[in-house]
Amino acid sequence: MDSMFDEFSTEQKELIHILHQVQSDFGYIPPETIGRIARHLKISESDVYGVLTFYKAFSLEPRGKHVVTICMGTACHVRGAPRILDEFSRQLNVEPGGTSEDKQFTLETVNCVGACALGPIAIADGEYHGQLKTSKIEKIIETISKNDDTTKE
Ligand code: FES
Repeated sequence: MDSMFDEFSTEQKELIHILHQVQSDFGYIPPETIGRIARHLKISESDVYGVLTFYKAFSLEPRGKHVVTICMGTACHVRGAPRILDEFSRQLNVEPGGTSEDKQFTLETVNCVGACALGPIAIADGEYHGQLKTSKIEKIIETISKNDDTTKE
C-alpha cells in the first residue's frame, strides 16, 4: 500500500476521495501521482485519468489560489459573457484558461452551469455572481483576494 494513501482503503470507490485529497494537498493532480493512485486501487492509470478528466473539480495543471470561472454557454453568451470574461482577463492580467504568474488567480470558462436565467454568471472561489455587470468585477476580485483559505476546503 502507498503510504501517501494510508487513510484510504483499496476499494475502487475511494478513487474520488483520493483525487479530492491530492487536489487539496497540491492544488492540482500532479501527473506522477496517477500511477501511485492506480497501484493503490489496483486499477489502470487510464481509469484514474478518465475520472479525473471527467470532473471539472480536478486539474492536471497547477491552479491559482483563487479560481474565477465564467459561464460562456449560449444563454450567458447572449447576455454579455464575453464582455465579463474580457474584463476579468484585463483586471487579473490572466488569459482565459490561464493562471497568473504569482499563482494567485486562475481564469476559466465553462459551458453552462445550469442557471441560465441568471446569466451572465461568474463563479469566484465557489460563489455564484449572477446578472453580472462589468462594474461589479473589481469588487469581486477585491473580495476573493482577501479570502486566503479557499484552497484548504
Ligand atoms: S448558459 Fe450560463 S448558466 Fe446556462
